Amino acid sequence: MLKDDLIKLKDAALADLKNIKDLKGLEDFGVKYFGRKDGELTRILRGLKDLAIEERKVVGELANTIKRDIETALEEFRGRLAAEKAPAIDLTISGIEPQTGHLHPITQFMRKVTDIFVSMGFDVVDGPEVETEKYNFDLLNIPADHPARDMWDTFYVKSQALPLTKGELEGVDHPQPLLSKEGSNRLLLRTHTSPVQIRAMESRKPPVRLIVPGRVFRHEATDAGHETNFYQCEGLVIDENVSMANLIATLDIFLKKIFGEKTEMRVRPSYFPFVEPGIEVDMSCLICNGVGCSSCKKSGWVEVLGAGMVHPVVLKNMGVDPEKYTGFAFGLGIDRFAALYYGINDIRLSYSGDLRFIRQF
Ligand code: DAH
Repeated sequence: MLKDDLIKLKDAALADLKNIKDLKGLEDFGVKYFGRKDGELTRILRGLKDLAIEERKVVGELANTIKRDIETALEEFRGRLAAEKAPAIDLTISGIEPQTGHLHPITQFMRKVTDIFVSMGFDVVDGPEVETEKYNFDLLNIPADHPARDMWDTFYVKSQALPLTKGELEGVDHPQPLLSKEGSNRLLLRTHTSPVQIRAMESRKPPVRLIVPGRVFRHEATDAGHETNFYQCEGLVIDENVSMANLIATLDIFLKKIFGEKTEMRVRPSYFPFVEPGIEVDMSCLICNGVGCSSCKKSGWVEVLGAGMVHPVVLKNMGVDPEKYTGFAFGLGIDRFAALYYGINDIRLSYSGDLRFIRQF
């Protein structure tokens, strides 16, 4: 009876399946039962056509169920065989360390600088990188027609809202004047952090002690010591009886804190329109300890910052009474400082995005 044969065949197939050891066994199993010519199951299914219709229906159904049972068991078995073959996980192998990033050397250095000034009682203030001519120049006592503007090679920003000629004014809804009484609203990329001195004083009254770390831009031909984009840290102190002695002492403490107690500084008279008197500060060369080397052009000194006593005109522009208050200001170039600190010989590396450089910090 075909029905009994079928049931026997199922038992035999499931038993056979248990004895399979490898892929070859699996293949043989497939041929034995499902082989197109002589497969046992194939043969039974082929015999179905000789049965009476009624019987064919019953047996056919059974045959299909059995076929499916065997196929399912086969599938499971295949999975198990594959899992056994898969390489075992070796828990003793050490893992792959995930890569972690870190702060950029300029950011790290900027934070060191900021921490020192904060420890001396300074507030940290921020300002816009796209500035108006008014804040970047006019209010800092650098009038439009003054040759001192040549000290800063400036990137100007073209803007619809800020027309430059009369012709361009036509058709603009809210034209802004090229020059107002207080100065020009023309936009530019700030050339220094000094404009934030004025902005900060719009919402403060003396006494103030603040620093402005930030990014500035110059239209420069780049070389090892110059970039079109770099960082500065501005400082401003306004109070009664603030003197040049306070300025020099503050900078001396700062330089010693960051570069070590042996660091010497010297002061030379200089000119910046927003201070009077103005000074430039040199620091003993860290590479040759002041003896003279190629880094310091054999002088033993490196120029590190500009500073001075806030000009009375600038105090007035800040709304501060110059008869009552005095103040000092300074501006230091972070990139050159950082280069000295870390021994970097080309400041352009800082912006190269080269990981071989970045990973050294
Ligand atoms: N703003 C100047 C520059 O970028 C640096 C500077 C000089 C800032 C003297 C000051 C200062 O506050 O008093 O060249």
